[in-house]
Amino acid sequence: MEKRKPKWTIEGKTCLITGATSGIGKATAIELAKRGARIIYTARDLEKAKIVKEEIVLKSQNNDVEFFECELSSLESIKKLAENFKKRYSALHVLINNAGLWEAHRKLSKDGIELTFAVNYLAQFLLTDLLLGLLKKSAPSRVMNVSSELHRKGKINFDDLELKKHYNGMKAYYNSKLAIVLFTKELARRLQDTGVTANIAHPGLAKTDIYRALPSIEKKLIFLFGAITPEEGAKTSICLAMSDEVSNISGEYFARGKITKSSDESYDIEEAKKLWNISIEYVKKYIENSEV
Ligand SMILES: NC(=O)c1ccc[n+]([C@@H]2O[C@H](COP(=O)([O-])OP(=O)(O)OC[C@H]3O[C@@H](n4cnc5c(N)ncnc54)[C@H](OP(=O)(O)O)[C@@H]3O)[C@@H](O)[C@H]2O)c1
Repeated sequence: MEKRKPKWTIEGKTCLITGATSGIGKATAIELAKRGARIIYTARDLEKAKIVKEEIVLKSQNNDVEFFECELSSLESIKKLAENFKKRYSALHVLINNAGLWEAHRKLSKDGIELTFAVNYLAQFLLTDLLLGLLKKSAPSRVMNVSSELHRKGKINFDDLELKKHYNGMKAYYNSKLAIVLFTKELARRLQDTGVTANIAHPGLAKTDIYRALPSIEKKLIFLFGAITPEEGAKTSICLAMSDEVSNISGEYFARGKITKSSDESYDIEEAKKLWNISIEYVKKYIENSEV
């Protein structure tokens, strides 16, 4: 007789969340901590991180909360984060790649890479790669990458991935979010039968700091047309982290807690493989024995 798998529960699970110092990431951390998860989050501003830790502990009544410093625009900093994490913890059950930004003007990361591409996409790619051994060891485990409905407007142009020719902040954001969907679907294909799932979350239009670079009139317009709270925006991430029903689901795009068809381009397997190989080129100095 086939042995039944134990039901997935978040209680006692070790969760790493990037960008939980505000918005959707913070709301996700608070809710998962309330449900008994061990929460580790990343922060680039340690003072802010300390205040947020107090808030998470107070609201969840869970003391098992810690943060690690990480500047996600630096590949070196991501590598250090992964090393420190592995030194301190022997398991990782849920990795939530949540951090993201939108930049009106073209900026470069510490590694000289266009900032939106670097933080929104490449950071997810590298961190996941560096933690994959631990995720596999801890299986059943989950990777969850936060993208956006705006990935539908994205286009992967391999001749100009970093928008060197015609930068546009929205375009950079759309493209980075499409890259996340392509990457996660490819990751799920590579992780088949490992016990590690990989899915994508769209939070919905939520009133958070991500719109800080927008002109105030546009910001007001966005918020006027029914933006939800960060807590509501966190629901899809929380569902993907907690639900037993998604235990065997991988490579899917979730919006409002439900599997939803992503853009046609995001199903292009050849494009996903090509993006993967280029991403490896970007981060190869920081990965030793890539496990995927
Ligand atoms: N809000 C929406 O309507 C919406 C819609 C669709 C998708 N999303 C996605 O949801 C995710 C969370 O965004 P949010 O709306 O909650 O925005 P947010 O409030 O601005 O939170 C973004 C988080 O990412 C961190 N972060 C940004 N750049 C970083 C860097 N270089 N290094 C380290 N950490 C960095 C921020 O840290 P600091 O606190 O230090 O700034 C913050 O913790 C993002 O991936 C976003 O694209 C949001």
